[in-house]
Amino acid sequence: MGLLFVLSFSAALLFLGAHRDFLGSNWLLLQRDAKTPLSRQQQQQQWWRLQEVDFLEEAIPGHCADIIAGDPSVPHSRPFMAALIRGNSFMCGGTLIRRNWVLTAAHCEIGKGDTVILGVHSLSNPEREKQTFQITNVYMHPKFNRTTMENDIMVLQLNRNAKLNRFVQTIRLPRTYEDVRAGTQCLVAGWGLTENGREVSDTLHEVSVTVTDRRICNDKEHYNSKPAVTMNMVCAGGINNQRNDTCNGDSGGPLICRGIQRGITSFGEPKKCGYPQFPGVYTRLTKDYVEWVKKETERR
Ligand SMILES: *[C@@H]1O[C@H](CO)[C@@H](O)[C@H](O)[C@H]1NC(C)=O
Ligand SMILES: *[C@@H]1O[C@H](CO)[C@@H](O)[C@H](O)[C@H]1NC(C)=O
Repeated sequence: MGLLFVLSFSAALLFLGAHRDFLGSNWLLLQRDAKTPLSRQQQQQQWWRLQEVDFLEEAIPGHCADIIAGDPSVPHSRPFMAALIRGNSFMCGGTLIRRNWVLTAAHCEIGKGDTVILGVHSLSNPEREKQTFQITNVYMHPKFNRTTMENDIMVLQLNRNAKLNRFVQTIRLPRTYEDVRAGTQCLVAGWGLTENGREVSDTLHEVSVTVTDRRICNDKEHYNSKPAVTMNMVCAGGINNQRNDTCNGDSGGPLICRGIQRGITSFGEPKKCGYPQFPGVYTRLTKDYVEWVKKETERR
């Protein structure tokens, strides 16, 4: 049901957007002009860190930056980062986990025929490092729940293998599955929004976030278990009033702790990126999820 929704939504948009040149120099203008329809479900589920331009223009106040309180990444220094593009719109981040597979969040509205670009620093510049792919198959976690945000994980199959080099590389998934301990410093990266909340960030940004105790994240001063931050999720940010955070458009990107991807950017409180009372929430790469990813990507 969920998968069907994504695929049909995708087909409609491809039809509308097929004639546009998304690598043109007027990328940002196209971004703002893009009329990507929002489903009712998306309007109701506004905590998603999903970049939908029309929706964000009204939803995100001025202080909500791209990767909040971060810095531009050194160009091509995060070679596992994937940009997920639909028509003219940047939708989400992702990570290259095998030469023809990308890991992202299930809530990202991306589907068969959409585009994945690897080796990207600037979305608009025609960088030589870029490798462009079409998505041939989309496997959303069968138990992804849009209400609870449980199982927000998805893998995308690409139409060919990436050429691995200094600018395009796979990321390591966990091989042990203990919880990510509170206090652990991790890195998040993405092309979310710019500081004024009105444009996608053209260049990749990153910031370090500190993992927050799940009980604190669920208490009355924080999410108050609405929605519940479960054992399949990690909370990060908000410690010592630090604003470091992910925001809309960073979804699907990695939470990297000690060089290993331990999470996927999933959600936060609507309009409150960088608020210490609402840390960012990430899908935790549990044993079950890593095994599911292996099963989906190895049998094809
Ligand atoms: C999602 O979770 C809610 C709350 O547990 C449940 O009521 C609902 O049936 C679930 N939806 C799906 C599609 O599994
Ligand atoms: C917030 O980000 C800055 C810049 O990346 C970093 O120096 C600082 O340690 C981060 N704070 C936390 C609590 O992770």
